[in-house]
Amino acid sequence: MKARIALLPGDGIGPEVTTAATGALEQIARSFGHEFSFTTSLIGGAALDAGGPPLPAATLDAARGANAVLLGAVGDPRFDHLPPSGRPESALLALRKALGVYANLRPARSWPGLENAGPLKASVLAGTDLVVVRELTGGLYYGEPRGISDDGESAVNTMRYTRDEIARVARVAFTLARARQKRVVSVDKANVLEVSRLWRQAVTEVARDYPDVVLTHEFVDAAAMKLALAPASFDVLLMENLFGDILSDEAGAVCGSLGLLPSASLGNGPGLFEPVHGSAPTIAGRDIANPIGAILSAGMLLSDGLGLAEEGRAITQAVERTIAAGRRTADIAPPGHRAIGTREFAETVCRELKN
Ligand code: NAD
Ligand code: IPM
Ligand code: MN
Repeated sequence: MKARIALLPGDGIGPEVTTAATGALEQIARSFGHEFSFTTSLIGGAALDAGGPPLPAATLDAARGANAVLLGAVGDPRFDHLPPSGRPESALLALRKALGVYANLRPARSWPGLENAGPLKASVLAGTDLVVVRELTGGLYYGEPRGISDDGESAVNTMRYTRDEIARVARVAFTLARARQKRVVSVDKANVLEVSRLWRQAVTEVARDYPDVVLTHEFVDAAAMKLALAPASFDVLLMENLFGDILSDEAGAVCGSLGLLPSASLGNGPGLFEPVHGSAPTIAGRDIANPIGAILSAGMLLSDGLGLAEEGRAITQAVERTIAAGRRTADIAPPGHRAIGTREFAETVCRELKN
Protein backbone atom coordinates (compact mmCIF):
# COMPACT_ATOMS: atom_id res chain seq x y z
CA MET A 1 0.00 0.00 0.00
CA LYS A 2 1.03 3.59 -0.65
CA ALA A 3 0.02 6.14 1.99
CA ARG A 4 0.74 9.81 2.63
CA ILE A 5 1.18 10.56 6.33
CA ALA A 6 1.23 14.12 7.63
CA LEU A 7 3.49 14.56 10.66
CA LEU A 8 2.76 17.42 13.06
CA PRO A 9 5.35 17.14 15.86
CA GLY A 10 4.33 20.36 17.64
CA ASP A 11 5.78 21.41 20.98
CA GLY A 12 7.63 20.16 24.07
CA ILE A 13 8.02 16.38 23.97
CA GLY A 14 5.88 16.29 20.80
CA PRO A 15 8.88 16.11 18.40
CA GLU A 16 10.63 13.42 20.49
CA VAL A 17 7.64 11.09 20.65
CA THR A 18 6.69 11.76 17.02
CA THR A 19 10.18 10.71 15.90
CA ALA A 20 9.76 7.51 17.94
CA ALA A 21 6.39 6.77 16.34
CA THR A 22 7.62 7.58 12.83
CA GLY A 23 10.48 5.11 13.30
CA ALA A 24 7.94 2.39 14.05
CA LEU A 25 5.94 3.29 10.92
CA GLU A 26 9.09 3.16 8.79
CA GLN A 27 9.93 -0.27 10.15
CA ILE A 28 6.39 -1.49 9.42
CA ALA A 29 6.71 -0.19 5.85
CA ARG A 30 9.96 -2.16 5.40
CA SER A 31 8.63 -5.35 7.01
CA PHE A 32 5.28 -5.41 5.22
CA GLY A 33 6.32 -3.89 1.89
CA HIS A 34 4.36 -0.65 2.13
CA GLU A 35 5.34 2.76 0.80
CA PHE A 36 4.67 5.51 3.31
CA SER A 37 5.61 9.08 2.42
CA PHE A 38 5.92 11.64 5.21
CA THR A 39 5.53 15.42 5.24
CA THR A 40 6.31 17.42 8.36
CA SER A 41 4.45 20.66 9.17
CA LEU A 42 4.45 23.24 11.92
CA ILE A 43 1.66 23.47 14.48
CA GLY A 44 1.11 25.14 17.85
CA GLY A 45 3.92 27.03 19.55
CA ALA A 46 6.37 25.87 16.88
CA ALA A 47 4.23 27.61 14.26
CA LEU A 48 3.97 30.77 16.39
CA ASP A 49 7.78 30.78 16.74
CA ALA A 50 8.05 30.68 12.95
CA GLY A 51 5.96 33.86 12.80
CA GLY A 52 2.72 32.26 11.67
CA PRO A 53 -0.63 31.49 13.28
CA PRO A 54 -0.90 28.35 15.48
CA LEU A 55 -2.46 26.43 12.58
CA PRO A 56 -0.87 27.70 9.34
CA ALA A 57 -2.88 27.20 6.13
CA ALA A 58 -0.07 25.02 4.73
CA THR A 59 -0.34 22.71 7.75
CA LEU A 60 -4.08 22.33 7.34
CA ASP A 61 -3.62 21.65 3.62
CA ALA A 62 -1.01 18.98 4.39
CA ALA A 63 -3.35 17.33 6.91
CA ARG A 64 -6.34 17.43 4.57
CA GLY A 65 -4.29 16.05 1.70
CA ALA A 66 -2.90 13.12 3.70
CA ASN A 67 -4.32 9.65 4.24
CA ALA A 68 -3.67 10.03 7.97
CA VAL A 69 -2.24 12.59 10.38
CA LEU A 70 0.16 11.85 13.24
CA LEU A 71 0.46 14.58 15.86
CA GLY A 72 2.82 14.90 18.84
CA ALA A 73 1.50 17.55 21.22
CA VAL A 74 0.90 21.30 21.35
CA GLY A 75 1.28 23.79 24.18
CA ASP A 76 4.09 25.93 25.49
CA PRO A 77 4.16 27.93 28.74
CA ARG A 78 5.69 30.87 26.83
CA PHE A 79 2.30 31.40 25.23
CA ASP A 80 0.15 30.82 28.31
CA HIS A 81 -0.64 34.55 28.57
CA LEU A 82 -2.43 34.56 25.19
CA PRO A 83 -6.24 34.37 24.98
CA PRO A 84 -7.63 30.90 24.04
CA SER A 85 -7.95 31.81 20.35
CA GLY A 86 -4.25 32.69 19.98
CA ARG A 87 -2.73 29.86 22.00
CA PRO A 88 -0.95 26.80 20.56
CA GLU A 89 -3.82 24.60 21.81
CA SER A 90 -6.29 26.44 19.55
CA ALA A 91 -4.53 24.84 16.56
CA LEU A 92 -5.47 21.38 17.72
CA LEU A 93 -9.10 22.35 18.27
CA ALA A 94 -9.26 23.99 14.82
CA LEU A 95 -7.59 20.96 13.21
CA ARG A 96 -10.02 18.50 14.82
CA LYS A 97 -12.95 20.62 13.66
CA ALA A 98 -11.57 21.08 10.14
CA LEU A 99 -10.95 17.34 9.74
CA GLY A 100 -14.39 16.61 11.21
CA VAL A 101 -12.96 13.95 13.53
CA TYR A 102 -15.89 13.75 15.92
CA ALA A 103 -15.08 10.38 17.55
CA ASN A 104 -11.95 10.17 19.70
CA LEU A 105 -11.00 6.65 20.77
CA ARG A 106 -8.71 6.48 23.80
CA PRO A 107 -7.92 2.89 24.79
CA ALA A 108 -6.42 2.19 28.21
CA ARG A 109 -5.34 -1.21 29.50
CA SER A 110 -3.17 -2.88 32.07
CA TRP A 111 0.12 -4.14 30.62
CA PRO A 112 1.85 -7.33 31.78
CA GLY A 113 4.89 -6.07 33.68
CA LEU A 114 3.35 -2.70 34.59
CA GLU A 115 0.93 -4.01 37.23
CA ASN A 116 2.61 -1.88 39.88
CA ALA A 117 3.50 1.19 37.80
CA GLY A 118 0.34 3.07 38.77
CA PRO A 119 -1.25 3.98 42.10
CA LEU A 120 -3.65 1.02 42.27
CA LYS A 121 -3.15 -2.39 43.78
CA ALA A 122 -2.23 -4.86 41.05
CA SER A 123 -5.31 -6.91 41.96
CA VAL A 124 -7.59 -3.91 41.26
CA LEU A 125 -5.95 -3.05 37.95
CA ALA A 126 -5.82 -6.66 36.72
CA GLY A 127 -7.84 -7.25 33.57
CA THR A 128 -8.40 -3.55 32.82
CA ASP A 129 -9.07 -3.08 29.12
CA LEU A 130 -11.32 -0.17 28.28
CA VAL A 131 -11.83 2.46 25.60
CA VAL A 132 -12.99 5.99 26.25
CA VAL A 133 -15.01 7.20 23.27
CA ARG A 134 -14.87 10.96 23.57
CA GLU A 135 -17.03 13.25 21.44
CA LEU A 136 -14.42 15.59 19.96
CA THR A 137 -15.91 18.38 17.88
CA GLY A 138 -18.77 19.70 20.02
CA GLY A 139 -19.76 20.59 23.56
CA LEU A 140 -18.14 23.20 25.79
CA TYR A 141 -15.00 23.35 23.67
CA TYR A 142 -16.83 24.82 20.69
CA GLY A 143 -20.17 26.15 21.99
CA GLU A 144 -21.21 29.76 21.37
CA PRO A 145 -21.57 32.19 22.97
CA ARG A 146 -18.21 32.22 24.66
CA GLY A 147 -15.99 34.95 25.99
CA ILE A 148 -15.14 37.31 28.80
CA SER A 149 -17.28 40.39 29.42
CA ASP A 150 -15.87 43.82 28.59
CA ASP A 151 -15.35 44.64 32.28
CA GLY A 152 -13.57 41.32 32.80
CA GLU A 153 -15.90 40.43 35.68
CA SER A 154 -17.80 37.57 34.07
CA ALA A 155 -17.21 34.90 31.47
CA VAL A 156 -19.27 32.38 29.58
CA ASN A 157 -18.86 29.09 27.75
CA THR A 158 -21.68 27.08 26.26
CA MET A 159 -22.25 23.35 26.27
CA ARG A 160 -24.39 22.62 23.23
CA TYR A 161 -25.09 19.35 21.46
CA THR A 162 -27.55 18.39 18.79
CA ARG A 163 -29.24 15.00 18.80
CA ASP A 164 -27.38 14.10 15.60
CA GLU A 165 -23.97 14.97 17.05
CA ILE A 166 -24.68 12.67 19.99
CA ALA A 167 -26.12 9.87 17.86
CA ARG A 168 -23.18 9.68 15.43
CA VAL A 169 -20.55 9.31 18.15
CA ALA A 170 -22.82 6.88 20.01
CA ARG A 171 -22.88 4.67 16.89
CA VAL A 172 -19.09 4.60 16.90
CA ALA A 173 -19.13 3.48 20.55
CA PHE A 174 -21.73 0.74 19.97
CA THR A 175 -19.99 -0.53 16.85
CA LEU A 176 -16.73 -0.70 18.78
CA ALA A 177 -18.41 -2.48 21.71
CA ARG A 178 -19.74 -5.12 19.32
CA ALA A 179 -16.18 -6.17 18.55
CA ARG A 180 -15.28 -6.19 22.26
CA GLN A 181 -17.19 -7.09 25.43
CA LYS A 182 -20.50 -5.62 24.14
CA ARG A 183 -20.92 -3.21 27.04
CA VAL A 184 -21.29 0.57 26.77
CA VAL A 185 -21.37 2.88 29.78
CA SER A 186 -22.63 6.30 28.74
CA VAL A 187 -21.32 8.98 31.08
CA ASP A 188 -23.29 12.17 31.69
CA LYS A 189 -24.59 14.57 34.32
CA ALA A 190 -28.28 14.09 33.57
CA ASN A 191 -29.24 14.83 37.18
CA VAL A 192 -28.23 18.47 36.58
CA LEU A 193 -27.63 19.34 32.92
CA GLU A 194 -30.20 19.59 30.12
CA VAL A 195 -27.50 18.70 27.58
CA SER A 196 -26.95 15.45 29.48
CA ARG A 197 -30.67 14.65 29.41
CA LEU A 198 -30.63 14.97 25.63
CA TRP A 199 -27.40 12.94 25.59
CA ARG A 200 -29.07 10.12 27.53
CA GLN A 201 -32.14 10.18 25.25
CA ALA A 202 -30.13 10.15 22.04
CA VAL A 203 -27.78 7.39 23.23
CA THR A 204 -30.76 5.27 24.36
CA GLU A 205 -32.34 5.67 20.92
CA VAL A 206 -29.15 4.55 19.17
CA ALA A 207 -28.89 1.57 21.53
CA ARG A 208 -32.10 0.12 20.00
CA ASP A 209 -30.12 -0.62 16.83
CA TYR A 210 -27.60 -2.61 18.90
CA PRO A 211 -29.73 -5.04 20.94
CA ASP A 212 -26.69 -7.28 21.50
CA VAL A 213 -24.86 -4.47 23.34
CA VAL A 214 -25.70 -3.73 26.98
CA LEU A 215 -26.06 0.01 27.66
CA THR A 216 -25.88 1.52 31.14
CA HIS A 217 -25.75 5.16 32.20
CA GLU A 218 -23.48 6.58 34.85
CA PHE A 219 -23.13 10.08 36.27
CA VAL A 220 -19.70 11.52 35.57
CA ASP A 221 -18.75 11.96 39.22
CA ALA A 222 -19.60 8.34 40.01
CA ALA A 223 -17.85 7.18 36.83
CA ALA A 224 -14.66 8.98 37.89
CA MET A 225 -14.81 7.17 41.22
CA LYS A 226 -15.50 3.78 39.66
CA LEU A 227 -12.60 4.25 37.26
CA ALA A 228 -10.29 4.45 40.26
CA LEU A 229 -12.02 1.72 42.28
CA ALA A 230 -12.87 -0.85 39.61
CA PRO A 231 -11.31 0.04 36.24
CA ALA A 232 -11.63 -3.56 35.04
CA SER A 233 -15.42 -3.30 35.21
CA PHE A 234 -15.52 -1.10 32.08
CA ASP A 235 -15.52 -1.97 28.40
CA VAL A 236 -16.53 1.07 26.30
CA LEU A 237 -17.11 4.44 28.00
CA LEU A 238 -18.98 7.01 25.90
CA MET A 239 -19.01 10.66 26.85
CA GLU A 240 -19.01 14.30 25.76
CA ASN A 241 -15.88 16.27 24.98
CA LEU A 242 -14.82 17.75 28.36
CA PHE A 243 -15.78 14.69 30.41
CA GLY A 244 -13.72 12.57 28.00
CA ASP A 245 -10.72 14.86 28.31
CA ILE A 246 -10.75 14.52 32.08
CA LEU A 247 -11.56 10.83 32.47
CA SER A 248 -9.02 9.76 29.85
CA ASP A 249 -6.16 11.34 31.81
CA GLU A 250 -7.46 9.52 34.87
CA ALA A 251 -7.49 6.26 32.90
CA GLY A 252 -3.86 6.88 31.95
CA ALA A 253 -2.79 7.40 35.54
CA VAL A 254 -4.73 4.33 36.66
CA CYS A 255 -2.95 2.14 34.08
CA GLY A 256 0.51 3.36 35.09
CA SER A 257 1.27 6.58 33.22
CA LEU A 258 -0.41 9.14 31.02
CA GLY A 259 2.48 8.49 28.63
CA LEU A 260 1.04 5.06 27.79
CA LEU A 261 -2.19 6.22 26.16
CA PRO A 262 -2.73 6.54 22.41
CA SER A 263 -5.71 7.94 20.59
CA ALA A 264 -7.46 7.85 17.24
CA SER A 265 -9.77 10.65 16.15
CA LEU A 266 -12.07 9.54 13.38
CA GLY A 267 -14.58 11.20 11.08
CA ASN A 268 -15.24 10.93 7.38
CA GLY A 269 -11.85 12.08 6.05
CA PRO A 270 -8.28 11.40 7.17
CA GLY A 271 -7.99 10.34 10.81
CA LEU A 272 -5.90 12.19 13.38
CA PHE A 273 -3.69 10.08 15.64
CA GLU A 274 -2.03 11.48 18.75
CA PRO A 275 -0.99 10.41 22.22
CA VAL A 276 -3.38 11.51 24.95
CA HIS A 277 -0.67 13.37 26.86
CA GLY A 278 0.39 16.96 26.29
CA SER A 279 3.69 18.67 25.56
CA ALA A 280 5.04 18.02 29.09
CA PRO A 281 7.34 21.07 28.93
CA THR A 282 9.26 20.25 32.12
CA ILE A 283 10.64 17.02 30.65
CA ALA A 284 11.00 18.20 27.02
CA GLY A 285 14.32 17.83 25.22
CA ARG A 286 15.75 15.43 27.83
CA ASP A 287 15.12 12.11 26.09
CA ILE A 288 13.08 10.87 29.05
CA ALA A 289 9.49 11.07 27.72
CA ASN A 290 7.59 7.81 27.38
CA PRO A 291 7.01 7.25 23.63
CA ILE A 292 4.53 4.38 24.07
CA GLY A 293 1.41 6.55 23.68
CA ALA A 294 2.77 7.98 20.42
CA ILE A 295 3.96 4.59 19.12
CA LEU A 296 0.58 3.01 19.87
CA SER A 297 -1.05 5.99 18.13
CA ALA A 298 0.97 5.03 15.07
CA GLY A 299 -0.46 1.53 15.56
CA MET A 300 -4.00 2.96 15.56
CA LEU A 301 -3.09 4.99 12.47
CA LEU A 302 -2.30 1.71 10.74
CA SER A 303 -5.34 -0.23 11.92
CA ASP A 304 -8.06 2.42 12.25
CA GLY A 305 -6.67 4.93 9.75
CA LEU A 306 -5.33 2.80 6.91
CA GLY A 307 -7.20 -0.46 7.52
CA LEU A 308 -3.93 -2.34 8.18
CA ALA A 309 -5.09 -4.43 11.16
CA GLU A 310 -2.22 -6.90 11.13
CA GLU A 311 0.36 -4.11 11.04
CA GLY A 312 -1.42 -2.36 13.93
CA ARG A 313 -1.29 -5.55 15.97
CA ALA A 314 2.42 -5.90 15.20
CA ILE A 315 3.02 -2.52 16.86
CA THR A 316 1.06 -3.48 19.98
CA GLN A 317 2.92 -6.78 20.24
CA ALA A 318 6.31 -5.11 19.80
CA VAL A 319 5.47 -2.72 22.66
CA GLU A 320 4.29 -5.68 24.77
CA ARG A 321 7.57 -7.52 24.16
CA THR A 322 9.63 -4.42 24.92
CA ILE A 323 7.86 -4.00 28.26
CA ALA A 324 8.11 -7.73 28.98
CA ALA A 325 11.87 -7.52 28.36
CA GLY A 326 12.09 -5.12 31.30
CA ARG A 327 12.64 -1.93 29.28
CA ARG A 328 11.19 1.08 31.09
CA THR A 329 11.19 4.82 30.65
CA ALA A 330 11.50 6.80 33.88
CA ASP A 331 7.74 7.32 34.36
CA ILE A 332 7.05 3.56 34.52
CA ALA A 333 10.30 2.32 36.08
CA PRO A 334 10.07 0.94 39.62
CA PRO A 335 12.48 2.35 42.21
CA GLY A 336 16.00 1.05 41.63
CA HIS A 337 15.28 -0.01 38.03
CA ARG A 338 17.58 1.42 35.34
CA ALA A 339 15.35 3.53 33.12
CA ILE A 340 16.16 3.98 29.44
CA GLY A 341 15.55 7.03 27.28
CA THR A 342 12.89 7.80 24.68
CA ARG A 343 15.23 6.97 21.79
CA GLU A 344 16.51 3.71 23.22
CA PHE A 345 12.98 2.58 24.02
CA ALA A 346 11.86 3.40 20.47
CA GLU A 347 14.87 1.60 18.98
CA THR A 348 14.01 -1.48 21.02
CA VAL A 349 10.43 -1.43 19.74
CA CYS A 350 11.77 -1.20 16.16
CA ARG A 351 14.07 -4.18 16.76
CA GLU A 352 11.10 -6.12 18.12
CA LEU A 353 9.14 -5.17 15.00
CA LYS A 354 11.85 -6.68 12.83
CA ASN A 355 11.64 -10.05 14.64
P1 NAD B 1 0.85 16.95 30.08
O1 NAD B 1 0.11 15.80 29.56
O2 NAD B 1 1.80 17.60 29.15
O3 NAD B 1 1.67 16.48 31.38
C1 NAD B 1 1.01 16.00 32.56
C2 NAD B 1 2.02 15.23 33.41
O4 NAD B 1 2.33 13.99 32.77
C3 NAD B 1 3.36 15.93 33.58
O5 NAD B 1 3.86 15.59 34.83
C4 NAD B 1 4.22 15.33 32.49
O6 NAD B 1 5.59 15.39 32.75
C5 NAD B 1 3.70 13.90 32.45
N1 NAD B 1 3.79 13.32 31.10
C6 NAD B 1 3.01 13.60 30.05
N2 NAD B 1 3.37 12.89 28.99
C7 NAD B 1 4.39 12.12 29.37
C8 NAD B 1 5.19 11.16 28.70
N3 NAD B 1 5.00 10.85 27.40
N4 NAD B 1 6.19 10.55 29.40
C9 NAD B 1 6.40 10.84 30.69
N5 NAD B 1 5.66 11.74 31.38
C10 NAD B 1 4.66 12.38 30.71
O7 NAD B 1 -0.22 17.99 30.62
P2 NAD B 1 -0.01 19.47 31.25
O8 NAD B 1 1.26 19.54 32.00
O9 NAD B 1 -1.29 19.78 31.89
O10 NAD B 1 0.08 20.40 29.96
C11 NAD B 1 1.31 20.83 29.36
C12 NAD B 1 0.99 21.51 28.04
O11 NAD B 1 0.48 20.55 27.11
C13 NAD B 1 -0.09 22.59 28.14
O12 NAD B 1 0.29 23.62 27.28
C14 NAD B 1 -1.33 21.89 27.64
O13 NAD B 1 -2.27 22.77 27.12
C15 NAD B 1 -0.76 20.99 26.60
N6 NAD B 1 -1.55 19.78 26.30
C16 NAD B 1 -1.57 19.38 24.99
C17 NAD B 1 -2.21 18.21 24.65
C18 NAD B 1 -2.19 17.77 23.22
O14 NAD B 1 -1.44 18.32 22.43
N7 NAD B 1 -2.98 16.80 22.83
C19 NAD B 1 -2.79 17.43 25.63
C20 NAD B 1 -2.74 17.86 26.96
C21 NAD B 1 -2.11 19.04 27.29
C1 IPM C 1 -6.17 16.52 24.87
C2 IPM C 1 -5.74 17.91 25.26
C3 IPM C 1 -6.48 18.96 24.44
C4 IPM C 1 -7.97 18.82 24.78
C5 IPM C 1 -6.02 20.41 24.64
C6 IPM C 1 -4.55 20.59 24.47
C7 IPM C 1 -6.75 21.33 23.71
O1 IPM C 1 -5.89 18.10 26.63
O2 IPM C 1 -6.05 16.18 23.67
O3 IPM C 1 -6.61 15.76 25.72
O4 IPM C 1 -8.42 19.37 25.78
O5 IPM C 1 -8.65 18.17 24.01
MN1 MN D 1 -6.39 16.27 27.71
